[in-house]
Amino acid sequence: MSFDYEHLIVDIPDYPQPGVVFKDITPLIASPEGFQAVVSQLVEHFSAAGATKVMGAEARGFMVAAPVAYALHAGFVPARKPGKLPRKTLTENYALEYGNDALEIHTDALTPDDKVIIVDDLIATGGTALAQLRLIEQAGAQCIGMGFLMELAFLHPRDLLQEHRALDIFSLVQVN
Ligand code: PRP
Ligand code: HPA
Repeated sequence: MSFDYEHLIVDIPDYPQPGVVFKDITPLIASPEGFQAVVSQLVEHFSAAGATKVMGAEARGFMVAAPVAYALHAGFVPARKPGKLPRKTLTENYALEYGNDALEIHTDALTPDDKVIIVDDLIATGGTALAQLRLIEQAGAQCIGMGFLMELAFLHPRDLLQEHRALDIFSLVQVN
């Protein structure tokens, strides 16, 4: 039986702005059993996919994506907020549930041989995931899947990704 971790994800109403229910994963990742269960379920799902790289978006994405990369024996590519990476970057702008932002990777972070899995704590509108997909495409590499701890299904993120519907999009917890 796997460890029940859903109760360790805490709803914070009206954060960071009215109307948004923020999903606080800090109690979950502070639990050794919870953290291990989440990472190992994502790793198990993608273990045969042949990923060479896992991409994670700053900042919550790093917390889940980096340990998944390590366990898959893949490299980790941080997709960072603007101005944080020291060398030449590729950039994608995107809309968030609360505002706009951009993500960047180093121009040499991926090569055309790379098979990349995007991993994040949460997919809400899908804007962050789509920006990461476009960064992978800009680099000439291939995205082979996406894994999320939570999917806010009521925001229909898969609609935004419908051009990429052949992709394996996997979520551990669906929020309806
Ligand atoms: C959160 C979350 C995802 C993204 C999902 O990050 O970690 O990366 O939002 O939302 P979307 O599907 O609507 O794009 P956020 O941008 O809030 O930054 P943080 O990780 O630094 O908190
Ligand atoms: N909760 C709800 N919507 C969100 C979140 C969250 O934690 N992050 C990005 N969109």
